[in-house]
Amino acid sequence: QPVTRIAPSILSADFARLGEEVKNVISAGADWIHFDVMDNHYVPNLTIGPMVCKAIRPCTDAPIDVHLMCEPVDDLIPQFAQAGANIISFHPEASRHVDRSLSLIRDNGCKAGLVLNPATPLAVLDHVMDRLDLILLMSVNPGFGGQSFIPSTLDKLRATRERIDAWQEKTGHRILLEVDGGVKTDNIAQIHEAGADTFVAGSAIFGQPDYAAVIATMREQIAG
Ligand code: DX5
Ligand code: ZN
Repeated sequence: QPVTRIAPSILSADFARLGEEVKNVISAGADWIHFDVMDNHYVPNLTIGPMVCKAIRPCTDAPIDVHLMCEPVDDLIPQFAQAGANIISFHPEASRHVDRSLSLIRDNGCKAGLVLNPATPLAVLDHVMDRLDLILLMSVNPGFGGQSFIPSTLDKLRATRERIDAWQEKTGHRILLEVDGGVKTDNIAQIHEAGADTFVAGSAIFGQPDYAAVIATMREQIAG
């Protein structure tokens, strides 16, 4: 697995041609498909669910990275696992029992992630590090693509990177650090520098005609 990953958010793809968009963005060099699930309850927007995940599953071998912006989360976890999700992440505010929801994700054969909103303190990670494969820091408030990167995320990334490295030192277990919201070719280097290894980008990629060119520029920016 490469040290860094680019995960295009299909929220900004053309939904009328979703299968083709998934194939195109992966052949353009993307590593993961980031799949944003919104319920018009936890966030004020409504998107796609397990049926759409199942529909795009045959389009690629790339991991599908499901980002649940839904409340509650537990019922959706086995549904997404059966629909072919590889990684499932949720917001701690949306689950009454965070430890249980994280365990449920792994019990269903997926990698488990916790998503922190811009104002969610890192303390939510304190007692669940051993349950985590990924930490996703939101660099915008969840609900919409095309928002601007919130600069205070950079300090939060540095602090999260320290925790992850200390945890790896202690246990040998490597937790991925993903960032989501407002990631562009002109700020990805800073975000990488602050400690992220996995980059979600929606509008930056799907808003341009040449996905391969955007992804190649992003990779150059985070190389080395
Ligand atoms: C926002 C979603 C993001 C979004 C990112 O709630 O979780 O994944 O699609 O879009 P951009 O890259 O356009 O900010
Ligand atoms: Zn997302």
